[in-house]
Amino acid sequence: KKTALIMAGGRGERFWPKSRKNLPKQFLSLTDDGKTMIQLTVERILPLVDMQDIYIATNRDYKKLVREQLPEIPEENILCEPVGRNTAPCIGLGAVHISRKYDDAVMLVLPSDHLIKYNTIFLNTLSDAAEVAEQGENLVTLGITPDYPETGYGYIKFNPNQTMKRAFAVDRFVEKPDLETAKEYLATEQYLWNSGMFIWKVSTILHNMEKYLPETYAGLQRIQNAIATEDERSVLEQEFEAFHSESIDYGIMEKAQNIYILSGSFGWDDVGSWLAVERIRQSNEFGNVITGNAVTVDTKNTIIEGDKKLIATVGIEDLIIVDTEDALLICEKDSAGNIKKVLENLKICN
Ligand code: GDD
Ligand code: MG
Repeated sequence: KKTALIMAGGRGERFWPKSRKNLPKQFLSLTDDGKTMIQLTVERILPLVDMQDIYIATNRDYKKLVREQLPEIPEENILCEPVGRNTAPCIGLGAVHISRKYDDAVMLVLPSDHLIKYNTIFLNTLSDAAEVAEQGENLVTLGITPDYPETGYGYIKFNPNQTMKRAFAVDRFVEKPDLETAKEYLATEQYLWNSGMFIWKVSTILHNMEKYLPETYAGLQRIQNAIATEDERSVLEQEFEAFHSESIDYGIMEKAQNIYILSGSFGWDDVGSWLAVERIRQSNEFGNVITGNAVTVDTKNTIIEGDKKLIATVGIEDLIIVDTEDALLICEKDSAGNIKKVLENLKICN
């Protein structure tokens, strides 16, 4: 049996001012089809997983958004964390809920904040991964061939001589190395990026939590025992409050044994900043990518995300312009990485 847990509690700030605390990236539409990232994430896996076996883990604050954007997901499958404690507790909560429904299902753990271009290749890779996960106590991930020394990803050294089906055994998993290290890894050609997608049996991940994150595991047991009782809400609140913030990458993947990786050329895009829009949306003959109502004169290679107002540009290039009802961003493309500084400044002002 295949089930899925979609992680949608992140509060990405890099798509400001479109993404806000009350509307993070996974709930935005960045593609020409108008569908939001989380809607695409669900749609993509429907050939493999039944709708009623898809779980969404998110913050309590986003429950309404999830219901609006994914009305077909059963309400009891929307798992609401009272406070964000990163991905390890989130995955643990998912495992606990799925284990109530199925004896030992395979769980596809998927982020909701990236795009995939070639769905068929992706689904084939995922089903191969599920087979490897079913074969034993294996933690399986999907890897991407790196093409630059990104420091925001996990790096996975695989062993080309030790395979199980289409998967390679993993020698080591290094989460977010520094730039020097990332460059070294890239040069060896023996590392893949961690895509942040994981495939394992519910029992496998719970055993690994028990081993590497025993306190979290104990809290999860208490949550499990309270499910469907009148204490459910208060126990959930108490335990999440007490959990350490821990990502699955640092908390388990860096330490665990029996990791396997499958690489796949399925057109993975982590959509890291506004610049990604150029890869995703259609650009016009002047290299402009325009959403909304805009008049451009002598304007080149500019990203315009309009809202209600007409936007007119004259004699500019290489800019990012994002308009919303109450905030307007004008940014040089080379400085896109600094948009988060706006938010830091805003916090100081508040
Ligand atoms: N429910 C819930 N609760 N979801 C969360 C939480 C949380 O507390 N924190 C993060 N998420 C969701 C995010 O919305 C996203 O979909 C996913 O979990 C991954 O979290 P990120 O915060 O985006 O992780 P990252 O980008 O720093 O790193 C991960 O992804 C990289 C690839 O994009 C790691 O797995 C890296 O190893 C990987 O390379
Ligand atoms: Mg991410």
